[in-house]
Amino acid sequence: MASTLHNDRFLRACLQQNVDQVPVWLMRQAGRYLPEYRATRARAGDFLTLCTTPELACEVTLQPIDRFPLDAAILFSDILTIPYVMGLGLSFQEGEGPVFAKPLRSAADIARLSQPDPENELRFVMDAVRLIRRELDGRVPLIGFAGSPWTLACYMIEGRGSRDFIHIKSLLYSDPATLHHLLAHLAISVTAYLNAQIAAGAQAVMLFDTWGGSLSTPAYAAFSLAYMTRIIAGLRREADGRRVPVIIFTKGGGNWLEAMADSGADVIGLDWSTELHVARQRLGQKVALQGNMDPIALYGSSEGVRQEALRVLESHGAGTGHIFNLGHGITPQTPIENVATLVDTVHGWNPARQSI
Ligand code: CP3
Repeated sequence: MASTLHNDRFLRACLQQNVDQVPVWLMRQAGRYLPEYRATRARAGDFLTLCTTPELACEVTLQPIDRFPLDAAILFSDILTIPYVMGLGLSFQEGEGPVFAKPLRSAADIARLSQPDPENELRFVMDAVRLIRRELDGRVPLIGFAGSPWTLACYMIEGRGSRDFIHIKSLLYSDPATLHHLLAHLAISVTAYLNAQIAAGAQAVMLFDTWGGSLSTPAYAAFSLAYMTRIIAGLRREADGRRVPVIIFTKGGGNWLEAMADSGADVIGLDWSTELHVARQRLGQKVALQGNMDPIALYGSSEGVRQEALRVLESHGAGTGHIFNLGHGITPQTPIENVATLVDTVHGWNPARQSI
């Protein structure tokens, strides 16, 4: 497994070490904006088949790496693999997103949940990680990921995407002990899942807390961040003789950066509402920073994309610990040539030259 890593810029930036160029990867970089993804997806028939077939997951993971000089690959999977193997009846419906046939609606439903064994029920994910590492052959590092307990619980309780989270928030305010029970259960599942991804070859891991920003400040601390902190404390942080960095991303979490930086994460992901220079000023060099460019800025002209990328680069500036990324996932209608422009702009940025 200890094949030489030819490009370790991403891992170095996560640990605030010096890099020759700012590393860049994109959330949802394997996805529908790529015609080769749509072709593989059509061949697979549906999205879950793509996730549960290691050869197909490997193929789509590598598609953006083959097309653009990105500095990291991210495992192709979904945060909902855990509730899927817990038997909640997951399907993905066109134009609707994920839907669970059997959402959690009572304390009894929660008490019945299993604790999946990553090398058994989730073996398809670990096999994908092993295959991707072999096929990457050290070109770039591989990022593994999972959903935060809060974000997983949102889907498991609401049964689908939601605007106001009536079911889960009602539980939060009426019976917090039962919700804590579920979140503690999921924290154990996610810790085992990420440790298994690391054992299988993931070189960094990211926790996606897409819905943490829907919470009040005290509820975020108690129902989302506390469980991410617990997970991070339980992770194996070294593999192949290198530290395995942990990234946490709470969409809408800009108010809580200081608390997030106390979680034990090496890197904090920012959405487009939090400026990099403001985050850097608030946090000092406590953590590395990733993200922020509005994914919809990729819909403009190529010069517009270049200008916006430069603005984001200059907001962080020349200091260490910056990983370029979007503020959320790239969307299906993104023009591909603008992605190439973005990656070239980031790699071509030279802060010394720019300031002359
Ligand atoms: O970043 C990557 O390239 C890795 C792949 C990845 C996917 N989902 C593939 C995917 C990752 C990291 C995820 C995480 C994920 N999944 C999150 C957290 C990140 C975020 O975007 O907020 C969430 C909330 C989910 C749940 C989920 N999966 C939703 C809400 C949807 C539907 C949204 C949509 O765009 O249709 C999915 C499906 C999904 N996951 C797709 C992809 C490429 C689209 C499926 C398709 O091919 O139709």
